[in-house]
Amino acid sequence: MNRVFVTRRIPRAGLDLLTRAGAQVRIGQRDEEAVVPQPVLEDGVRWCDVLLSLLTERVDRPLLELNPNLRGVANYAVGFNNIDVPAATALGIPVSNTPGVLTDSTADLTWALILAVARRIPEAHAYLTAGRYKLLGPNLLLGADVSPGGSGRRKVLGVIGFGRIGRAVARRAAGFDIDVLAYDPDARAQIDADPLARWADLDELLRQSDFVTLHPLLTPDTRHLIDERALGLMKRSAYLINVSRGPVVDEQALVHALRGGKIAGAALDVFEHEPAMAPGLAECEHVVLVPHIASATVDTRDRMATMAAENALAHLRCERAPNVVDPDVYAGAPYRERAATGRR
Ligand code: DGY
Repeated sequence: MNRVFVTRRIPRAGLDLLTRAGAQVRIGQRDEEAVVPQPVLEDGVRWCDVLLSLLTERVDRPLLELNPNLRGVANYAVGFNNIDVPAATALGIPVSNTPGVLTDSTADLTWALILAVARRIPEAHAYLTAGRYKLLGPNLLLGADVSPGGSGRRKVLGVIGFGRIGRAVARRAAGFDIDVLAYDPDARAQIDADPLARWADLDELLRQSDFVTLHPLLTPDTRHLIDERALGLMKRSAYLINVSRGPVVDEQALVHALRGGKIAGAALDVFEHEPAMAPGLAECEHVVLVPHIASATVDTRDRMATMAAENALAHLRCERAPNVVDPDVYAGAPYRERAATGRR
């Protein structure tokens, strides 16, 4: 039994690895812009030995319960908020992800967004390509410096969530002569020991930062971490950047803050009800909005596909997956029973 249900078409590198290893692969949706219909998802889960899912599929307890012999779920993403991991662990199903490999691409995009929103690059591009550029203008498309620039003042970058990606963003800050504050209740000791950043409580970080960039996991504690109150603490000249998960920001409150001039601008890669945007967001000035492309480079997506396939193959063989999210699953009786059936 070696059936892998891949919910949507991942890059070739991963599919080839699976087929070369002798897995039978079924793909739920080949159209890049279409979701997997729920009946197709459910059929695929019933059919397979291992599920290879994307962030776009909700892998909840009822779905997992459809197949008592499911040996694992390999998520093609570092995030796994689409999966009910506690339910999977209780059922004895290991869940794996693709950490590390997209850190650089995501940190690069964070800086691209910081620069794009501060220097109004999308507006400048639209202005030029619309044929409106007639003469070099002393007041044309004025933006904000990221490095000290004309003000001579070192700016402050506030990093919320200081895991792999937050830290990689902080590492890149050195080239901009910008001071870094960091807030992450799960990484207090690491921040205190880290020369790249100085710890700040959330409110202090929001008050002091010129750029606030979000990199926490989405948990009940971080849902709407940036709400009306938090936005109200930010400087009127500050920018908000989100490449983590949309629901970390109360998007309607953000629209109000942007409309009311409470903050200077925002750059978002993720949305609260993705792919939809809060009413009015697209029409706001000084926003840069991109469609969840933080990890979207050819090399990174190939590597993610390979990692997801390696995890899937380990699940198939009932071996410990290289990137299991909750290692405790392997100690439980429900896993041992599934693995014993799988090895037979
Ligand atoms: C992830 O992997 O969690 C990113 O959000 C998508 O690549």
